[in-house]
Amino acid sequence: MLRSKDLLGLKGLTAEEIESIISLAFDMKRVLKSRQTTNDLSGKSVVTLFYENSTRTRNSFETAARLMGARTSSIAASTSSVTKGESLIDTGRTLDALMADIIIIRHSMSGAPHLLAKNVKAGVINAGDGMDEHPTQALLDIYTMKEKFGSVKGLKVVMVGDIKHSRVARSNLWALNKLGAQVVLVAPNTLLPAGIESLGCTVVPDLEEAAVGANVIMGLRLQLERQKAGLFPSISEYSSMFEINREKIAGASPDLLIMHPGPINRDIEICGEIADSGLSVINEQVTNGVAVRMAVMKLLGGSK
Ligand code: CP
Repeated sequence: MLRSKDLLGLKGLTAEEIESIISLAFDMKRVLKSRQTTNDLSGKSVVTLFYENSTRTRNSFETAARLMGARTSSIAASTSSVTKGESLIDTGRTLDALMADIIIIRHSMSGAPHLLAKNVKAGVINAGDGMDEHPTQALLDIYTMKEKFGSVKGLKVVMVGDIKHSRVARSNLWALNKLGAQVVLVAPNTLLPAGIESLGCTVVPDLEEAAVGANVIMGLRLQLERQKAGLFPSISEYSSMFEINREKIAGASPDLLIMHPGPINRDIEICGEIADSGLSVINEQVTNGVAVRMAVMKLLGGSK
Protein backbone atom coordinates (compact mmCIF):
# COMPACT_ATOMS: atom_id res chain seq x y z
CA MET A 1 0.00 0.00 0.00
CA LEU A 2 1.07 3.59 -0.51
CA ARG A 3 0.83 6.04 2.38
CA SER A 4 -0.47 8.92 0.28
CA LYS A 5 -3.54 9.41 -1.93
CA ASP A 6 -1.10 10.79 -4.55
CA LEU A 7 2.07 9.74 -6.38
CA LEU A 8 4.03 12.98 -6.74
CA GLY A 9 7.62 11.70 -6.82
CA LEU A 10 9.97 8.93 -5.78
CA LYS A 11 11.97 11.17 -3.44
CA GLY A 12 9.28 10.76 -0.79
CA LEU A 13 8.67 7.03 -1.25
CA THR A 14 10.34 4.32 0.80
CA ALA A 15 12.22 1.45 -0.85
CA GLU A 16 9.37 -0.82 0.32
CA GLU A 17 6.74 1.33 -1.40
CA ILE A 18 8.77 1.32 -4.63
CA GLU A 19 9.21 -2.47 -4.41
CA SER A 20 5.49 -2.97 -3.79
CA ILE A 21 4.55 -1.00 -6.92
CA ILE A 22 7.07 -2.95 -9.02
CA SER A 23 5.94 -6.27 -7.58
CA LEU A 24 2.29 -5.51 -8.44
CA ALA A 25 3.42 -4.37 -11.91
CA PHE A 26 4.74 -7.90 -12.55
CA ASP A 27 1.18 -9.21 -11.94
CA MET A 28 -0.20 -6.51 -14.22
CA LYS A 29 2.26 -7.43 -16.98
CA ARG A 30 0.83 -10.96 -16.91
CA VAL A 31 -2.68 -9.50 -17.35
CA LEU A 32 -1.40 -7.35 -20.19
CA LYS A 33 0.41 -10.19 -21.98
CA SER A 34 -2.62 -12.48 -21.76
CA ARG A 35 -4.74 -9.68 -23.22
CA GLN A 36 -7.10 -9.82 -20.26
CA THR A 37 -8.74 -6.95 -18.40
CA THR A 38 -9.49 -6.35 -14.70
CA ASN A 39 -12.22 -4.49 -12.86
CA ASP A 40 -9.86 -2.83 -10.37
CA LEU A 41 -11.00 0.64 -11.42
CA SER A 42 -14.55 -0.27 -12.37
CA GLY A 43 -16.82 2.73 -11.89
CA LYS A 44 -13.85 5.07 -11.37
CA SER A 45 -13.09 8.14 -13.43
CA VAL A 46 -9.51 8.81 -14.55
CA VAL A 47 -8.63 12.17 -16.12
CA THR A 48 -5.38 13.05 -17.91
CA LEU A 49 -4.60 16.76 -17.60
CA PHE A 50 -1.61 17.58 -19.81
CA TYR A 51 -0.12 21.07 -20.04
CA GLU A 52 2.80 19.66 -22.10
CA ASN A 53 2.89 17.32 -25.08
CA SER A 54 3.21 13.58 -24.67
CA THR A 55 2.96 10.44 -26.77
CA ARG A 56 4.00 7.62 -24.43
CA THR A 57 2.92 8.72 -20.96
CA ARG A 58 -0.59 9.92 -21.74
CA ASN A 59 -1.49 6.98 -23.96
CA SER A 60 0.03 4.57 -21.50
CA PHE A 61 -2.04 5.91 -18.58
CA GLU A 62 -5.22 5.91 -20.67
CA THR A 63 -4.60 2.35 -21.89
CA ALA A 64 -3.85 1.20 -18.34
CA ALA A 65 -6.99 2.85 -16.93
CA ARG A 66 -9.24 1.34 -19.60
CA LEU A 67 -7.74 -2.13 -19.08
CA MET A 68 -8.84 -1.83 -15.45
CA GLY A 69 -12.38 -0.75 -16.30
CA ALA A 70 -12.14 2.99 -15.61
CA ARG A 71 -13.88 5.74 -17.53
CA THR A 72 -11.21 8.00 -19.02
CA SER A 73 -11.18 11.54 -20.26
CA SER A 74 -8.37 13.64 -21.57
CA ILE A 75 -7.81 17.38 -21.20
CA ALA A 76 -5.10 19.13 -23.20
CA ALA A 77 -4.40 22.56 -21.74
CA SER A 78 -4.30 24.07 -25.23
CA THR A 79 -7.98 23.24 -25.87
CA SER A 80 -9.34 23.72 -22.34
CA SER A 81 -10.53 26.70 -20.30
CA VAL A 82 -6.91 27.15 -19.16
CA THR A 83 -6.58 29.28 -22.32
CA LYS A 84 -9.28 31.56 -20.86
CA GLY A 85 -7.22 32.13 -17.72
CA GLU A 86 -8.56 29.40 -15.43
CA SER A 87 -6.09 28.60 -12.63
CA LEU A 88 -4.71 25.14 -11.93
CA ILE A 89 -6.56 25.01 -8.60
CA ASP A 90 -9.88 25.99 -10.18
CA THR A 91 -9.34 23.44 -12.94
CA GLY A 92 -8.68 20.79 -10.27
CA ARG A 93 -11.80 21.75 -8.30
CA THR A 94 -13.82 21.51 -11.50
CA LEU A 95 -12.51 17.98 -12.06
CA ASP A 96 -13.38 17.11 -8.45
CA ALA A 97 -16.91 18.40 -9.08
CA LEU A 98 -17.03 16.16 -12.16
CA MET A 99 -16.26 13.23 -9.80
CA ALA A 100 -12.73 12.48 -11.01
CA ASP A 101 -11.14 9.76 -8.88
CA ILE A 102 -7.60 10.04 -10.30
CA ILE A 103 -6.07 13.06 -12.05
CA ILE A 104 -2.84 12.52 -13.99
CA ILE A 105 -1.04 15.79 -14.56
CA ARG A 106 1.94 16.87 -16.68
CA HIS A 107 3.05 20.47 -16.26
CA SER A 108 6.08 22.55 -17.21
CA MET A 109 6.27 24.03 -13.68
CA SER A 110 8.04 21.97 -11.02
CA GLY A 111 5.65 21.50 -8.09
CA ALA A 112 2.40 21.92 -10.05
CA PRO A 113 1.20 18.35 -9.18
CA HIS A 114 1.90 19.03 -5.48
CA LEU A 115 -0.22 22.19 -5.59
CA LEU A 116 -3.04 20.34 -7.34
CA ALA A 117 -2.89 17.42 -4.90
CA LYS A 118 -3.31 19.76 -1.91
CA ASN A 119 -6.43 21.25 -3.41
CA VAL A 120 -8.39 18.26 -4.74
CA LYS A 121 -9.99 15.18 -3.24
CA ALA A 122 -8.94 13.03 -6.23
CA GLY A 123 -5.69 11.09 -6.19
CA VAL A 124 -3.04 12.95 -8.20
CA ILE A 125 -0.30 11.28 -10.24
CA ASN A 126 2.66 13.29 -11.48
CA ALA A 127 3.25 12.54 -15.17
CA GLY A 128 6.24 14.90 -15.28
CA ASP A 129 6.65 18.34 -13.69
CA GLY A 130 9.28 20.72 -15.03
CA MET A 131 12.77 19.61 -14.04
CA ASP A 132 11.53 17.91 -10.86
CA GLU A 133 10.28 14.32 -11.25
CA HIS A 134 8.66 11.83 -13.62
CA PRO A 135 8.00 9.03 -11.13
CA THR A 136 6.17 6.52 -13.33
CA GLN A 137 8.94 6.77 -15.97
CA ALA A 138 11.57 5.83 -13.37
CA LEU A 139 9.33 3.06 -12.03
CA LEU A 140 9.00 1.56 -15.50
CA ASP A 141 12.76 1.93 -16.02
CA ILE A 142 13.43 0.06 -12.78
CA TYR A 143 10.78 -2.52 -13.66
CA THR A 144 12.60 -3.13 -16.97
CA MET A 145 15.93 -3.55 -15.15
CA LYS A 146 14.37 -5.96 -12.65
CA GLU A 147 12.73 -7.95 -15.43
CA LYS A 148 16.18 -8.51 -16.98
CA PHE A 149 18.43 -8.73 -13.91
CA GLY A 150 16.06 -9.83 -11.10
CA SER A 151 17.28 -7.02 -8.84
CA VAL A 152 18.81 -3.58 -9.28
CA LYS A 153 20.97 -3.89 -6.16
CA GLY A 154 24.62 -3.58 -7.18
CA LEU A 155 23.91 -2.80 -10.85
CA LYS A 156 26.04 -0.11 -12.46
CA VAL A 157 23.59 2.28 -14.13
CA VAL A 158 25.03 5.05 -16.32
CA MET A 159 22.78 7.96 -17.28
CA VAL A 160 24.10 10.13 -20.08
CA GLY A 161 22.80 13.39 -21.51
CA ASP A 162 20.98 16.46 -20.30
CA ILE A 163 20.93 15.63 -16.58
CA LYS A 164 20.29 19.24 -15.56
CA HIS A 165 16.88 19.51 -17.20
CA SER A 166 15.89 15.86 -16.80
CA ARG A 167 13.04 14.93 -14.46
CA VAL A 168 13.60 11.32 -15.57
CA ALA A 169 17.18 11.42 -14.25
CA ARG A 170 16.07 12.86 -10.91
CA SER A 171 13.34 10.26 -10.32
CA ASN A 172 15.72 7.46 -11.31
CA LEU A 173 18.43 8.82 -9.06
CA TRP A 174 16.14 8.93 -6.01
CA ALA A 175 14.82 5.43 -6.60
CA LEU A 176 17.98 3.66 -7.76
CA ASN A 177 19.83 4.94 -4.70
CA LYS A 178 17.13 3.64 -2.38
CA LEU A 179 17.31 0.24 -4.08
CA GLY A 180 21.10 -0.05 -3.90
CA ALA A 181 22.22 0.54 -7.50
CA GLN A 182 25.45 2.37 -8.36
CA VAL A 183 24.56 5.47 -10.39
CA VAL A 184 27.06 7.18 -12.70
CA LEU A 185 26.22 10.40 -14.56
CA VAL A 186 27.84 11.59 -17.79
CA ALA A 187 27.15 15.05 -19.27
CA PRO A 188 28.83 18.27 -20.29
CA ASN A 189 29.41 20.47 -17.24
CA THR A 190 26.78 22.93 -18.45
CA LEU A 191 24.13 20.17 -18.39
CA LEU A 192 24.96 18.95 -14.87
CA PRO A 193 23.38 20.53 -11.76
CA ALA A 194 26.02 21.79 -9.33
CA GLY A 195 26.57 19.44 -6.39
CA ILE A 196 24.59 16.55 -7.89
CA GLU A 197 27.10 14.09 -6.35
CA SER A 198 25.63 14.88 -2.93
CA LEU A 199 22.48 13.00 -4.01
CA GLY A 200 24.50 9.77 -4.12
CA CYS A 201 26.05 9.34 -7.55
CA THR A 202 29.39 9.64 -9.32
CA VAL A 203 30.05 12.05 -12.17
CA VAL A 204 32.40 10.86 -14.93
CA PRO A 205 33.02 13.29 -17.80
CA ASP A 206 33.79 10.66 -20.44
CA LEU A 207 31.17 8.16 -21.69
CA GLU A 208 33.73 5.56 -22.77
CA GLU A 209 35.25 5.55 -19.28
CA ALA A 210 31.86 5.57 -17.53
CA ALA A 211 30.64 2.66 -19.67
CA VAL A 212 33.31 0.26 -18.38
CA GLY A 213 31.48 -2.56 -16.58
CA ALA A 214 28.08 -0.87 -16.97
CA ASN A 215 24.99 -3.09 -16.81
CA VAL A 216 22.66 -0.32 -17.98
CA ILE A 217 23.34 2.75 -20.10
CA MET A 218 20.39 5.09 -20.21
CA GLY A 219 20.37 7.90 -22.75
CA LEU A 220 18.40 11.03 -21.93
CA ARG A 221 16.77 13.28 -24.47
CA LEU A 222 18.94 16.18 -25.48
CA GLN A 223 16.53 19.05 -25.04
CA LEU A 224 17.39 20.76 -28.31
CA GLU A 225 15.50 23.87 -27.26
CA ARG A 226 18.31 24.40 -24.70
CA GLN A 227 20.84 24.79 -27.45
CA LYS A 228 19.53 28.32 -27.98
CA ALA A 229 20.75 29.09 -24.46
CA GLY A 230 24.29 28.16 -25.51
CA LEU A 231 24.62 25.26 -23.06
CA PHE A 232 26.73 23.28 -25.53
CA PRO A 233 28.69 24.49 -28.54
CA SER A 234 26.97 22.55 -31.34
CA ILE A 235 24.92 19.41 -31.84
CA SER A 236 27.75 17.71 -33.76
CA GLU A 237 30.25 18.45 -30.97
CA TYR A 238 27.77 17.17 -28.39
CA SER A 239 27.20 13.92 -30.26
CA SER A 240 30.89 13.35 -30.91
CA MET A 241 31.41 13.29 -27.13
CA PHE A 242 28.16 11.94 -25.68
CA GLU A 243 26.28 9.94 -28.35
CA ILE A 244 25.77 6.31 -27.31
CA ASN A 245 27.47 4.28 -30.05
CA ARG A 246 29.30 0.97 -30.43
CA GLU A 247 32.77 2.42 -29.79
CA LYS A 248 31.84 4.27 -26.62
CA ILE A 249 30.09 1.30 -25.01
CA ALA A 250 32.73 -1.30 -25.96
CA GLY A 251 33.89 -1.74 -22.34
CA ALA A 252 30.41 -2.35 -20.90
CA SER A 253 29.34 -5.56 -19.19
CA PRO A 254 28.32 -8.37 -21.62
CA ASP A 255 24.78 -8.21 -20.16
CA LEU A 256 24.43 -4.50 -21.06
CA LEU A 257 20.95 -3.03 -21.53
CA ILE A 258 20.50 0.18 -23.50
CA MET A 259 17.57 2.24 -22.27
CA HIS A 260 16.00 5.57 -23.16
CA PRO A 261 12.74 7.11 -21.92
CA GLY A 262 11.96 8.51 -25.39
CA PRO A 263 11.38 10.43 -27.47
CA ILE A 264 14.84 9.86 -28.91
CA ASN A 265 16.87 12.16 -31.15
CA ARG A 266 18.39 9.53 -33.43
CA ASP A 267 22.08 9.91 -34.21
CA ILE A 268 22.41 12.80 -31.77
CA GLU A 269 22.16 11.29 -28.27
CA ILE A 270 21.93 7.67 -29.42
CA CYS A 271 23.10 6.09 -32.64
CA GLY A 272 20.19 4.59 -34.63
CA GLU A 273 22.01 1.28 -34.99
CA ILE A 274 22.24 0.91 -31.18
CA ALA A 275 18.65 2.08 -30.59
CA ASP A 276 17.43 -0.67 -32.94
CA SER A 277 19.88 -3.36 -31.77
CA GLY A 278 19.28 -6.35 -29.52
CA LEU A 279 20.88 -4.42 -26.66
CA SER A 280 18.05 -1.91 -26.68
CA VAL A 281 14.91 -2.33 -24.56
CA ILE A 282 13.42 1.03 -25.54
CA ASN A 283 10.20 -0.51 -26.89
CA GLU A 284 9.90 -2.92 -23.94
CA GLN A 285 10.11 0.11 -21.64
CA VAL A 286 6.99 1.50 -23.33
CA THR A 287 5.03 -1.75 -22.83
CA ASN A 288 6.24 -2.02 -19.24
CA GLY A 289 4.95 1.51 -18.68
CA VAL A 290 1.37 0.25 -19.05
CA ALA A 291 1.91 -2.47 -16.43
CA VAL A 292 3.55 -0.04 -14.01
CA ARG A 293 0.79 2.55 -14.43
CA MET A 294 -1.85 -0.14 -13.88
CA ALA A 295 -0.10 -1.00 -10.61
CA VAL A 296 0.15 2.63 -9.49
CA MET A 297 -3.52 3.32 -10.22
CA LYS A 298 -4.63 0.08 -8.55
CA LEU A 299 -2.66 0.99 -5.41
CA LEU A 300 -4.04 4.53 -5.34
CA GLY A 301 -7.44 3.09 -6.15
CA GLY A 302 -8.97 6.46 -6.74
CA SER A 303 -9.03 6.91 -2.96
CA LYS A 304 -10.75 10.00 -1.62
N1 CP B 1 9.04 9.31 -21.75
C1 CP B 1 8.07 10.24 -21.89
O1 CP B 1 7.68 10.90 -20.91
O2 CP B 1 7.57 10.35 -23.15
P1 CP B 1 6.37 11.30 -23.59
O3 CP B 1 6.85 12.72 -23.48
O4 CP B 1 6.06 10.90 -25.02
O5 CP B 1 5.22 11.05 -22.66
